[in-house]
Amino acid sequence: MGFQVIVQPGRHSFHAEPDETILEAALRQGLSLPYGCRDGVCGACRGQVLAGEIAHGKAQLDVLSEADRQVGFALLCCAMARSDLSIESREVRSLADMPIRTLPARVHRLIRAAPEVMIVELKLAANERLQFLAGQYVDILLKDGKRRSFSLANAPHDDACLELHVRHVPGGQFTDHLFSTMKERDILRLRGPHGSFFLREDSAKPMLLVAGGTGFAPIKAIVEHALAQGNERPMHVYWGGRAFADLYLLRLAEQWPLQHAHIRFTPVLSESPADEHWAGRTGLVHLAAIADHPDLSGHQAYVCGSPAMVAAARQDFLRHCQLPADEFFADSFDYAADTLDAMKASQQSNTRVAPHE
Ligand SMILES: Cc1cc2nc3c(=O)[nH]c(=O)nc-3n(C[C@H](O)[C@H](O)[C@H](O)COP(=O)(O)OP(=O)(O)OC[C@H]3O[C@@H](n4cnc5c(N)ncnc54)[C@H](O)[C@@H]3O)c2cc1C
Ligand code: FES
Repeated sequence: MGFQVIVQPGRHSFHAEPDETILEAALRQGLSLPYGCRDGVCGACRGQVLAGEIAHGKAQLDVLSEADRQVGFALLCCAMARSDLSIESREVRSLADMPIRTLPARVHRLIRAAPEVMIVELKLAANERLQFLAGQYVDILLKDGKRRSFSLANAPHDDACLELHVRHVPGGQFTDHLFSTMKERDILRLRGPHGSFFLREDSAKPMLLVAGGTGFAPIKAIVEHALAQGNERPMHVYWGGRAFADLYLLRLAEQWPLQHAHIRFTPVLSESPADEHWAGRTGLVHLAAIADHPDLSGHQAYVCGSPAMVAAARQDFLRHCQLPADEFFADSFDYAADTLDAMKASQQSNTRVAPHE
């Protein structure tokens, strides 16, 4: 048994079970209502019940007064439906709706997904959640004031942990620390969400999603978010790596087309030694996408990975495949500004620096 909830003024609707909060039900079905703590503390999820019955759950009187309740206000992270509902709540649809916050986070799990890739699960304090759009990134703030950006690999509804996929850059300040001395329960500080690389939900166009290496992280978030929404836009995901080990979540990606007829998945290796017995596609990942989709005039493209890959994809998709410029969305894993400064200084002094990937 469950209830139908209609959100005004957008008139979007979703289904809520009696034992889940209205916010949980909305996020589970891909509808972004505003929230902060998801724990009845901050008041960010406050909405108004226009028709129907709710239980206020664990909402405290100091956050939601008796007078507020009398006129229908509710904390949607605490309230549960007791009948079909009509509620009023702002829907979070754009970057302007997304508060940027600085928060401490505890390293919950470190999972070595490949020799050079670590999946980092971060947990925020018990009464904190980070609201973001699928595909955005956060900055990890380092002790010396520098910052390093990492894409969020989890979809917004699945936010018990924030998931990062980090590739080891030998000699890199943050990733050397991560791969050598960082341990579970360490505390980091992060700031976000940032970036305009997120799923455009107002479009019905088929999507080409192209990831290079750990650029898979935000692509995974976008696919999982679209699936949670029940969005059936055709999606063709390409994931490129140098060697087989770079495709560190291959099993997960291979499941998508098996479970969803509107998703295709193509892994591509750029360097495939004979002993890897690779029977799949080879070459540059964006060229594999072009070979299958020479005409992108009716598509949207979401591309994420090294600066060289993103630049080449942008140029070739627009120039050779008629992709409209405003349908190309990308996050390029550029060096941090302080790294660029160091590289410029070292170039001026004729010191050799590591090339871009
Ligand atoms: C928007 C955005 C999102 C990002 N998301 C991710 C992500 O999800 N996963 C991920 O793994 N990375 C991601 N990055 C890259 C990440 O922010 C760091 O730049 C990277 O992890 C290196 O940090 P570091 O402190 O270890 O190295 P630094 O101390 O910055 O660099 C040390 C040396 O390594 C070289 N170097 C730095 N970066 C690279 C590189 N990418 N390739 C080759 N050589 C390099 C530099 O020449 C420098 O000499 C993202 C970057 C941006 C801008
Ligand atoms: S009170 Fe903070 S999200 Fe509901």
